[in-house]
Amino acid sequence: MDTPQQQQDKISPQAKWWVDGQRIRYKGFWFKPEFITASEAIRAHYTPLPSDIILASFPKTGTTWLKAITSSILRHNSSTIHDDLGHLNPHEVVPFLEIELFGEKPSKDITNISSPRVFNSHLPLSFLPETVKTSGCRVIYITRHPADTFVSLWHLYNNRFGTEISIRQAFDEFCKGLVPAGPYFEHILEFWEARDRVMFVTYENLKANPEENVRKIAKFLGCKPIVEKIVKECSFEKLRNTIKERGEGIHWSGTKYEMFFRKGVVGDWKNHLTREMMKEFGSQHF
Ligand code: A3P
Repeated sequence: MDTPQQQQDKISPQAKWWVDGQRIRYKGFWFKPEFITASEAIRAHYTPLPSDIILASFPKTGTTWLKAITSSILRHNSSTIHDDLGHLNPHEVVPFLEIELFGEKPSKDITNISSPRVFNSHLPLSFLPETVKTSGCRVIYITRHPADTFVSLWHLYNNRFGTEISIRQAFDEFCKGLVPAGPYFEHILEFWEARDRVMFVTYENLKANPEENVRKIAKFLGCKPIVEKIVKECSFEKLRNTIKERGEGIHWSGTKYEMFFRKGVVGDWKNHLTREMMKEFGSQHF
């Protein structure tokens, strides 16, 4: 039974956002209505196992990369997992809780997935079952500089849907939190407040020190690190080329898989946002 505040949240303002239509603000976050329904199903029916691994992220912060690294670590530590990243793309290997497993038309049955089960989610921590914090399951959260996150999202949605508003206007909306899974900082904050149980990885640090990060992630997962091989296997070029060579098709959202591999650099915001925009952003948030 929802509390009065939750009921209020459900009917709070709707926004037609610059990307792809209607969003609803629920518990302080903007999502498409189907993701709110999915989050309710997750809270009702998903019981995390101590061996589960949840890869959590705000969209466009390096989710695909983290999925690739995690599944590669597990594969190299297992004699039974034969999924080869040369044959399977990271989005096929690691399903989204709110899409493939508990979305409108689930395409996978969670009970058929063998341990350790690896899931991904763009939902805030408060949208997941409370037991995520107590079951002993491992949560890894990847985050990225907000301006690069915005620029990555801007390109994805421009390529995917086209858009009628300027990057300036879109950035203003992002700053106000009007973005899928936004507000950006609140999303991070929920996981940060649980950081004694959540491993944090940043896109920038992963870029600068991939070996060190792979070693840390492997340790967190209780696995042996086979660092160099994994770093190579999950490099931007390797993943992008594999998907291109195979002529990979369309992601659930209608997005072409190759759109998940655009530039893969740190600081691309400098090519798109002015110093004034960043100053305003800073003064609003810091
Ligand atoms: P850009 O658009 O800045 O290039 P997500 O997976 O969360 O959707 O994030 C996508 C972003 O991660 C894109 O950023 C994409 O290019 C980048 N990316 C994907 N795989 C990567 C990899 N192996 N190494 C570095 N960046 C990667």
